[in-house]
Amino acid sequence: MSHFVAPSLLAADFLHLDKAIDLVNTSEADWFHLDVMDGSFVPNISFGQFIIEQIAGRAEKYVDVHLMIDDPSRYIDSFARAGASGLTVHAEACTHLHRVIQQMKEAGVKAGVALNPHTPVSVLENVIEDLDLVLIMTVNPGFGGQQFIYQSIPKVRQTAELITTHNSRALIEVDGGIGEQNAAKVLEAGARVLVAGSSVFKSDDPAEAIRRLKHIDAN
Ligand code: DX5
Ligand code: ZN
Repeated sequence: MSHFVAPSLLAADFLHLDKAIDLVNTSEADWFHLDVMDGSFVPNISFGQFIIEQIAGRAEKYVDVHLMIDDPSRYIDSFARAGASGLTVHAEACTHLHRVIQQMKEAGVKAGVALNPHTPVSVLENVIEDLDLVLIMTVNPGFGGQQFIYQSIPKVRQTAELITTHNSRALIEVDGGIGEQNAAKVLEAGARVLVAGSSVFKSDDPAEAIRRLKHIDAN
């Protein structure tokens, strides 16, 4: 089964966002990954519905929206209306995670849950059957360009086991510090979606960086 590549626009040049979007559209990438940060759940502020609506209007691929915000239930409907194909909320940010997952489904988007590096996979035991995506954070969320945390690899494997045991359709996405140096390892552990910000947009040839990630084989 081949994997998906999801470039994160966080690392793109925001003065020329049109170019970054067209680059992803014409590249071998599969998804757009859009990082929403609220300055509360994470120490950084990025962008919200207004920008996403404009990106989604130009994007010709799946729009994967990663909500790093407190109490995301307040905003599920508005991000769905902005053009997200799938939304991912953080388990740590939801008091009633089960309810938020149902809310995403009712809004007509794919439902994802993200786990911070310190959050055990077991928090998903009672919801895994309802999920389309599990996002394993491979850095602490909030910033692009951080170092990959190697303890995430056994965690990806544990997530894959949970998914198999419960016969869930959820895809495993990894996010943070992903590049050619670790992609094969996370794929081998069971990841199916590779988010890549810096390793794509800070490279000299982003389309080529995407192509390489797309053609990496799990070893
Ligand atoms: C981090 C974000 C990531 C970020 C990844 O909090 O969720 O999606 O853009 O950037 P890199 O690939 O540079 O670690
Ligand atoms: Zn992200």
